[in-house]
Amino acid sequence: MADSEWDKLTTDYESGLWINTFLQLPFLESKLKRFTEERGGAPWAVLDVGCGMGKHTLMVLKAGASYVLGFDVSKNMVEGAKMATDKFLHSQALAGSPKADFAVASVANCSSIPGARQGTFDLAICVYVMCNLQSGEQVKQAIAEIYKMLKPGGKLLIYEAHVLEYMKWNAKPEDPLTNNIAWGAPKEDGTKWSYFEDEGKPRQVTLRMNSEQEITFTNRVYTLSSWFAWILEAGFQITEFREPRADLESIPADAPEFAKQAAKSLLEMCWECTKPLKSP
Ligand SMILES: C[S@@+](CC[C@H](N)C(=O)[O-])C[C@H]1O[C@@H](n2cnc3c(N)ncnc32)[C@H](O)[C@@H]1O
Repeated sequence: MADSEWDKLTTDYESGLWINTFLQLPFLESKLKRFTEERGGAPWAVLDVGCGMGKHTLMVLKAGASYVLGFDVSKNMVEGAKMATDKFLHSQALAGSPKADFAVASVANCSSIPGARQGTFDLAICVYVMCNLQSGEQVKQAIAEIYKMLKPGGKLLIYEAHVLEYMKWNAKPEDPLTNNIAWGAPKEDGTKWSYFEDEGKPRQVTLRMNSEQEITFTNRVYTLSSWFAWILEAGFQITEFREPRADLESIPADAPEFAKQAAKSLLEMCWECTKPLKSP
C-alpha cells in the first residue's frame, strides 16, 4: 500500500487535540457505557476503522470489549496503535483478557482484510476518517464495506467534523485568542467555501495539536443530505444523529482562551447506525 500523508503525523497526533477531551470523549464514553450495559457481560467485538494511534482502540478495550480489530491506511499509525495496545494488554495480562489485532488496510475494502470475518462485529467506530477519503463514492463504498463486517443488530458510530463549522474555517485567524484550533486553506479564487458547490472538493486543513505543532492534511466534506442518503443506501437504520456540544462548565478555568472559544462552536456530528436484524 502506498505511503499515507498521515505516516509523518504520528508524533504530533499522539499529543491529542485539546477540544477532544471535553467534547468528543464524554460523548463516546457514555455511548460505550450504554453499549457495555446492553451486552450484559456477553463478549463483544469492535472494528476500529482508521484507528490512528489507537486512542479509541484503548477506549473500547477499557470499556470491556473482548476483541478489537484496528486498521488504518497508515503503516506508522498502525504501528503506534499496536504498541500502545500491547502495552495496555500486557499490563492487564489476566486469564480471559481481551485481544486485539491490527492491519494496514483501507476502509474502502476492509471486508477483505485477511483473517477478518464478515458479519462478526458488534460495533464499528469510525472517528474522523471518512473526511480523509478521496471522493463521496469512496465514502459510500466504505460505509457499505463496514456494513458487511457487522453482525445483524450491530452498530456503526461515525464521528466527523461538523460540515457547517468546517465551511467557516477560512484561514488561520490572526488574533491568537480566537478559535484557532483548526483552519482551512482559503479558496484559490478568493471566494468563501460553499456548502453545496464545494461538496467533496479537496481542502488543506490544519489542526493545532496539544504539542502546539500544527499538522496539515487533505480533507473533503459532504452535505448532510449526502451523508444521510449514503448511510441509508448501505442498508443501515439511523438510530441517532447528534451534534454534541461541549459542556462549557466542564472547561477548566485555566484552559487556553482559544480552546474556550472553540468549545462554543458546533464542532462535530455523529451518527449511530444500526444494521437491521433482517436484511432488507
Ligand atoms: C484524524 S485521524 C483519526 C484517527 C483515529 N480514528 C482517532 O480518532 O484518533 C484520521 C486517520 O484516518 C486514517 N485514514 C485515512 N484514509 C484512510 C482509509 N482510506 N482507510 C483507513 N484509514 C484511513 C489516517 O491514516 C489517520 O490515521
